[in-house]
Amino acid sequence: MANTALMVASSDEHFREMVRDSIVNLPDAKIVAEYTEVAANLYIRVLQDLERHPHAGLIVDISGDPEGCIKAVEKVKQAAPDLFIIVSNFHADGETVIQCMRAGANEFLLQPIKRTEFRDAMGRLERAPRHGTAGESKLGKIYTFIGTKGGVGTTTLATNFAAVLAQRKVATVALDLDWIGNDIAMQLGAAPQYTLLEVADNLERLDQALFEGFVTRDPLGFFLVGPPDALEQHGHFSEHMLREFATFLVEKYEAIVVDGGRAVNNELVLAAAQVSASVFLVIDQEFPSVRNAQRYIAYLMRMGFNQEQIKVVVNRYTKKVNSHQASLEQIQQTLNQSVFYGVPSSPAVLASINKGRPFVANREEAGELDRIFRLFVDKAAGRKKGPEAVAKSA
Ligand SMILES: Nc1ncnc2c1ncn2[C@@H]1O[C@H](COP(=O)(O)OP(=O)(O)O)[C@@H](O)[C@H]1O
Ligand SMILES: [Mg+2]
Repeated sequence: MANTALMVASSDEHFREMVRDSIVNLPDAKIVAEYTEVAANLYIRVLQDLERHPHAGLIVDISGDPEGCIKAVEKVKQAAPDLFIIVSNFHADGETVIQCMRAGANEFLLQPIKRTEFRDAMGRLERAPRHGTAGESKLGKIYTFIGTKGGVGTTTLATNFAAVLAQRKVATVALDLDWIGNDIAMQLGAAPQYTLLEVADNLERLDQALFEGFVTRDPLGFFLVGPPDALEQHGHFSEHMLREFATFLVEKYEAIVVDGGRAVNNELVLAAAQVSASVFLVIDQEFPSVRNAQRYIAYLMRMGFNQEQIKVVVNRYTKKVNSHQASLEQIQQTLNQSVFYGVPSSPAVLASINKGRPFVANREEAGELDRIFRLFVDKAAGRKKGPEAVAKSA
């Protein structure tokens, strides 16, 4: 069996384990993604993983909530009509099986799954016709910035990332999930009247006009939404709400830039990271932040991320380290992965924060920093074609 790739969706750890156990016996077959819930927005993560693994198939365990899961399968199939989908349940009553097929499933496997049946299904997945690759999905991409320490520059990088995308006419939303910092608004000189609390209150009827009617628009053209200013109001924005909101955002916007603060294990930040095209771990060269990066990466890997999704960005990067700073080589060795990018230190950052504008809004003043930062955005988000597209590499 040549390179069969499988995505596994099940809320049941035993099911996922069973698939893992079955697949080890199949040469050249591997699991490329595991989803621990089968929710309406499963398709978002599937589409993102299909970009990396265009020939992968999907197995969905619907036993947790057959009705909801079948709806999720239907959405996946609409989003990726060529995807080979295997549905599995403990009973195969005609009604359910028919519903699964109508939703777009290609196969039905009865649980407990027999090894031979699993292998045969993998064989059919392997031979299933593909009309080329899935290609770039039309859904927006989520970029989540998480700092491994306070003050490393997470908000600065997230804010300017959103600003560059907006300057490039990418429809962008900056989403602040740092409930304590709430610093994107500060860096943009904005004092939003409406916040994630209003998003929560209106989630059921949220559409683009309503959303853009109440959230803040930066002069550069992107939208900003974040926590309320009052610290006691962290209340009722749940993980479920975030998933619903993220679904809305990726359907309506091209890029969503999340400031996750440093709370990698916060349920909202983790949920955002899980639907992100990239998670940028922002570090500096001080040892505590590098050490934390190690812990953060280990945690994210345990949560099912792969190294490809986690991108280490060194802020205030310098080649000339002093005795209490880590060099690039030391960082890469400690983290066992290469550094994605280094952003230099510049007095223009603080100057721009004091003005309440992103530094990329004042290219002249930010000079070299501006140039290098734009190359970071190119590398991280690709580049819409334009006269700047031939910028030299740093
Ligand atoms: N590349 C940089 N060069 C110089 N100063 C920076 C740089 N990045 C961030 N800073 C400064 O560091 C401080 C903390 O940045 P911030 O983005 O708020 O960090 P975090 O969100 O990680 O707490 C700010 O005062 C900012 O001016
Ligand atoms: Mg911050």
